[in-house]
Amino acid sequence: RSIKSLATSPSSHILRRGYASEAVPDRKVAVLGAAGGIGQPLALLMKLNPLVSSLALYDIANTPGVAADVGHINTRSEVSGYSGEAELGKALEGADVVIIPAGVPRKPGMTRDDLFNINAGIVKGLCQAIAKYCPHVSIEILLKQVCLYATALVNMISNPVNSTVPIAAEVLKKAGKYDEKRLFGVTTLDVVRAKTFYAGKAKVPVAEVNVPVVGGHAGITILPLFSQATPKANLSDAEITALTKRTQDGGTEVVEAKAGKGSATLSMAYAGAIFADACLKGLNGAPDVVECSYVQSTITELPFFASKVPRCFAPLSDVALVRLGKNGVEEVLGLGPLSDYEKEGLEKLKPELQSSIEKGIKFANQ
Ligand code: NAI
Repeated sequence: RSIKSLATSPSSHILRRGYASEAVPDRKVAVLGAAGGIGQPLALLMKLNPLVSSLALYDIANTPGVAADVGHINTRSEVSGYSGEAELGKALEGADVVIIPAGVPRKPGMTRDDLFNINAGIVKGLCQAIAKYCPHVSIEILLKQVCLYATALVNMISNPVNSTVPIAAEVLKKAGKYDEKRLFGVTTLDVVRAKTFYAGKAKVPVAEVNVPVVGGHAGITILPLFSQATPKANLSDAEITALTKRTQDGGTEVVEAKAGKGSATLSMAYAGAIFADACLKGLNGAPDVVECSYVQSTITELPFFASKVPRCFAPLSDVALVRLGKNGVEEVLGLGPLSDYEKEGLEKLKPELQSSIEKGIKFANQ
């Protein structure tokens, strides 16, 4: 039967239901730093996501304009803008996913770590607010009130991610609200870049490419595993080395091309939107949601490590599953077989990643 005849038949409600907004759970997404270079296109992309019912845009200034602008787009979500610290609580209240692109970006010649002094303080303050205002799931079992303190899923974009994620973890721990399954460093842009560069070199359709990227999110701590890339291609050692270096330096390539006007914003907004979409799908119970992310991990001796996070986020709305503790990352996948070159890269990155993690923890506990 044609789509038209289905839509007008007595059973057409079945077809319509698949598209109706009420069939999709309500989900609130908050973007902190929404008026910035990443925040604005990210707000646009989240407004286009049909899984979002409420989009809260927060920044220290200029959010009303961004919210009014994005809010005129005729898609599902309702948009609200919040400006200044006094409105942060309202922006965060009831959020399922909080995306943080707040903070200063790099200028030519700077490393991500050079941003630490400013961004660490910004992230610390925002995470204290997340601990305070984000949703608590409260359920009743046999007349007993059981409170499960689940914060929103936090997607950390602010650099240096290698340190800002440990800072967030420490802040949430202090507030008694830390759940390691709900805190993510967004490393999706490294994966996006690795896919693009690999497809170009291997001459394969970019849409079919998969490349895991593990480690951290700065320079040599970014470790693309091209030996596991698909579709397979016969690339020389020199080509793999060049691809690895280009992926590690992808951010710097953009910083230099922008010549003082900031770092990656558009590709980062795209990557951030992909990762947030994966979070929403996971929350809604979609099976086999797999993304790379920098999370608390035991797959190496380092306490935080980016790797494939499979079937994340069992549905928060499903009380039985929450009670069983399955309300977040279900399992952190191992690294899989590494080439000798990748094994060497893994050993080289560990001291730098370790020191960035320690720096974050020390700052948070000062
Ligand atoms: P931007 O300067 O254009 O925007 C940052 C926004 O954060 C500004 O609107 C500013 O007002 C806001 N902000 C500052 N303090 C705030 C606070 N306390 N609360 C809320 N908002 C606050 O910078 P851009 O280009 O958007 O970059 C943002 C961050 O993302 C930087 O730290 C950058 O290094 C990082 N980044 C991360 C990437 C990743 O792969 N994870 C890739 C690219 C950038």
